[in-house]
Amino acid sequence: MSDFVETKSKFFLPKGVIYLDGNSLGPLPISAQKRVEHTLNNEWGEMIVTGWNKAGWMEQPNKVGNRIARLVGAAENTITVGDTLTIKVFQALASAVKHQRNRKILLTDSSNFPSDIYAAQGLVNMMGPDYALNIVPTDKLIENINENVAAIFFTEVDYKTGRRYETQNILTAAKKSGALVILDLAHSAGAIDTNLTELDVDLAVGCTYKYLNGGPGSPAFTYVNPKLINSLDPCLSGWLGHEKPFDFSLQYNPAVGIDRMRIGTPPVIGLAALEASLDIWDKVNISDVRRASIDLTEQFIKGVERYCPMLSLITPRNPKNRGSQVSFSFQNGYAAMQACIEHGLIGDFRAPDVMRFGFTPLFIDADDVERAIAILARIMSRELWQDPKFQKRKKVT
Ligand SMILES: Cc1ncc(COP(=O)(O)O)c(C=O)c1O
Repeated sequence: MSDFVETKSKFFLPKGVIYLDGNSLGPLPISAQKRVEHTLNNEWGEMIVTGWNKAGWMEQPNKVGNRIARLVGAAENTITVGDTLTIKVFQALASAVKHQRNRKILLTDSSNFPSDIYAAQGLVNMMGPDYALNIVPTDKLIENINENVAAIFFTEVDYKTGRRYETQNILTAAKKSGALVILDLAHSAGAIDTNLTELDVDLAVGCTYKYLNGGPGSPAFTYVNPKLINSLDPCLSGWLGHEKPFDFSLQYNPAVGIDRMRIGTPPVIGLAALEASLDIWDKVNISDVRRASIDLTEQFIKGVERYCPMLSLITPRNPKNRGSQVSFSFQNGYAAMQACIEHGLIGDFRAPDVMRFGFTPLFIDADDVERAIAILARIMSRELWQDPKFQKRKKVT
């Protein structure tokens, strides 16, 4: 049984703030400060370059990958960590296309995160006129799977609406046709109970700065199904994916297993901060997180719909069909969110009119949700968002 009172005490949460934006950037685990300091002083400082061997920096990506594996239902040694998510997306797409040889279409949906789509556009442009990216409405993904589709890629929980996709149905259709499936777990890892092994997913990628609380710009991860890994060409092939990086051979020979998806030098300091968060995650059961998250999102939806009739829910009402965020559309959503932030309720805004609120049982409880509803109700009923100071758009929304 997970102890969410205990986990909440492990995060630094600024006084007077209700933080409903862990779906964008998780808060600071208190122990990360000491953990990073240790890496800076005792490892980088004292060991300098010998830290690669003495402190085990080179093994960090797979050690951390194994700790994430437990949270997404993956087996040992199927996940490696490093680089950023867009790079991982590009590598996964390229590997899948290369593996499929005569299939020339990448299939995704128009609700996917733009960076994933841009990565695919870049890849398809580079591959030449025989290759194409097919972008279809989410509900038309399955009917667009055919024998020309090399891979289907989608973000399992929609970053705007919080809708959870019917992953199993898409996978079943893809398998029938021989297409590979690549899942983006950016809004799943640490949020819902995805089980990559049970689903028999081909490839998956995800980030660690959202629900996994690894800190701004913390590294991303790649999962590859063990049945597939040794026949996959990493395409974005770097020296650390080589079977013998320190032979410095001019010929690229991929390592056996998930190591082949490694690219370059591990981000040691970022990984140290992430390890501090995983110390908290190690004591938590993801099915408890899912249950608690459903309770919190239900409570929030009920309260907001009761007190803020001017907001329209765009997240599925059935908890089965949503992740761990709740979104409302409101024409003046940007200004309303700025007003919320000034009044101590932090969520965020996605164009054109979406107010997003993320729910993370590790540090959000029912009292926080009650207070969040009260703040939002006051702002909406008194139209506090009308203040001109809330109208000016900042760079990051
Ligand atoms: C679903 C999804 N994919 C890709 C990205 C881009 O990730 P990065 O900026 O780490 O490359 C994000 C960022 O929020 C995301 O939510």
